[in-house]
Amino acid sequence: MTSNNPSPWKIKTVEPIPNPSQEERKKALINSGYNLFNVSSSLVTIDLLTDSGTGSMSHNQWAAILSGDESYAGSQSFYALEKSVKDLFGYRVVIPTHQGRAAEDILFSAFGKDRKGVISNHLFDTTTAHALESGMNIFSCLDKNDDVFGGNFDLNLLESLLKKEDIDLIVATVTCNSAGGLPVSLDNLKKVKKIADFYNVKIWIDMARIAENSYFQYLHGEGESPQQCALQTCALSDGAWMSSKKDGLVNIGGFIALKDKSDKEKYEKLVELEILKEGFITYGGLAGRDMNALSVGLREALEPRYLKHRINEIKFLYNLLTEIGVPCVNPGGHAVYVNAGKWLKHLRNDDFPAQSLSLALYLVAGIRTSEIGSLCAGRDNQGQQISCPGEYLRLAIPRRTYTSDHFVYIKQAFEIISENKDSLPAVKFKKEAKKLRHFQSLFEDFLWTPSKYLNL
Ligand code: F0G
Repeated sequence: MTSNNPSPWKIKTVEPIPNPSQEERKKALINSGYNLFNVSSSLVTIDLLTDSGTGSMSHNQWAAILSGDESYAGSQSFYALEKSVKDLFGYRVVIPTHQGRAAEDILFSAFGKDRKGVISNHLFDTTTAHALESGMNIFSCLDKNDDVFGGNFDLNLLESLLKKEDIDLIVATVTCNSAGGLPVSLDNLKKVKKIADFYNVKIWIDMARIAENSYFQYLHGEGESPQQCALQTCALSDGAWMSSKKDGLVNIGGFIALKDKSDKEKYEKLVELEILKEGFITYGGLAGRDMNALSVGLREALEPRYLKHRINEIKFLYNLLTEIGVPCVNPGGHAVYVNAGKWLKHLRNDDFPAQSLSLALYLVAGIRTSEIGSLCAGRDNQGQQISCPGEYLRLAIPRRTYTSDHFVYIKQAFEIISENKDSLPAVKFKKEAKKLRHFQSLFEDFLWTPSKYLNL
C-alpha cells in the first residue's frame, strides 16, 4: 500500500538511520531506567518521540540562515520574523523566545495570579506546569462529542465554570496536543469569544500547531484558505504564544505575540521579563539566523500543498494501523494517537498502558514514541493525579522527514506486538519525578518478550 498523496518536496540531504540490534535495544531500555527520554538517539531507528524541532528545513530556509543578521539590537532577522507574524497572524507585537515554554514562563510569571483559574480546551504539559507554578488552578473544558474538531471547547461547561470559579484567562490550544492533536473549529472559537467577552475574560492562543489547525478549518469550509483561517483564529484572541519548533518548521524558536501595545503596563512587564530571562527584545534567546529560518518556515507551513500532504501522511499511518485492528483517535494534525487504554484492556489507567506499549514498540523495532496519558498529565498542586482525555500513545511525525516506507515498518511492529499484547505488563515507578514526571521518572523492570524482533 502506498500513500496516494506524493510529497510536495523532494529529498536533497539525507541522514543515515541507526539500526540497533535487539540486544542493544534491550540494554538501552535497562540503562534508561525504562524511560525512552533517556535513550541515546544513536539507538533509535524511527524517532516518533516528538514532532517538536525534529523536522527538515527547506532549501529556502537554509539560504535564509546564511543571511541571518546577528546584531544584538535592531537585527534585520527580527524585523523579518515580525513581518511574517504580522502578515500571517495579524499580531503587531512580537517578542521572540528560544522555545515555547520560555514564552509560557514569561507569560505566567507576568500574569499568573495565585488562586485564580485558567480554563482551556486542554493545556499541554509544559503550560500546565507553568500555570501551576504561578499558583493558578487549571480547568479543562474539552468537548468529547466532536470527532472531527475534537479540540473544541464544551461551551456549556465553559459557561458553568465561568459562573462558578474565579477565572482569569481562557487558553485555546490549537491543535489540542493532549486530545489527539485534534483541531478547534473557528465556529467554536467564535462562540468561546462571545462567552469570554460577556464574562470579561481574555483569550490567549497556544499556537504551536496553528497551520495544521487552520487546514482543518479550511477543509471544513470555514475559510477561503488556511492562511485566512489562521488570521481569523488569531483575530479572536488577545494574544498568543508559539513553540515554533512545530508549525514554524524550524529546529528551535518561539515567540509571544500581542495585538498591539495598547496595554502599556502589560507590554512593559513582558519586556522586563524578556530581557531578564531570554535576551534583548530583538533576539530573545535566538540567533539572527534562527529568526530568519523561522520567518520563512511560518510562511511555508501555511502553504495548502504542504498542509494537504502533511494531514494526509498522518491519515495514511492512521489507516495502516486501524486496518490491523489498532484503535486510534481520529487522525489529527501532527501524530497518530493509539488508544492504548482501549487496546490493552487488561491494564488500568494507573498501570500506564501507553507507557507499556511504548517500551514494547522500542524493544520490537527501535521505534521511539511518547506516552500522552496519565503519566504525562502528572499531579496537581495537591498531589492528585490530573485527569487526561485518554491513555494515548503518540506517534508524532516529524515534518518533511519520514516517508511512507517508514510507516509500513511501524505497522509491521504493531502486528508483532498484537500477537501477545495481552501479556504487556503494568508500568510501575521506581522513582517518580515531582514535576513533568514523564521526562525524569525511572521505572521498574519491563518483563515482556515479543514473538519477533524487527530491523531495517
Ligand atoms: N504548547 C504545545 C501545544 C506543545 O505541544 C508544546 C511542546 C509546548 C507548548 C512547549 O513548547 O517544547 O517549544 O517548549 N510540545 C512538544 C511535544 C514538546 O512533544 O509535543 P516547547
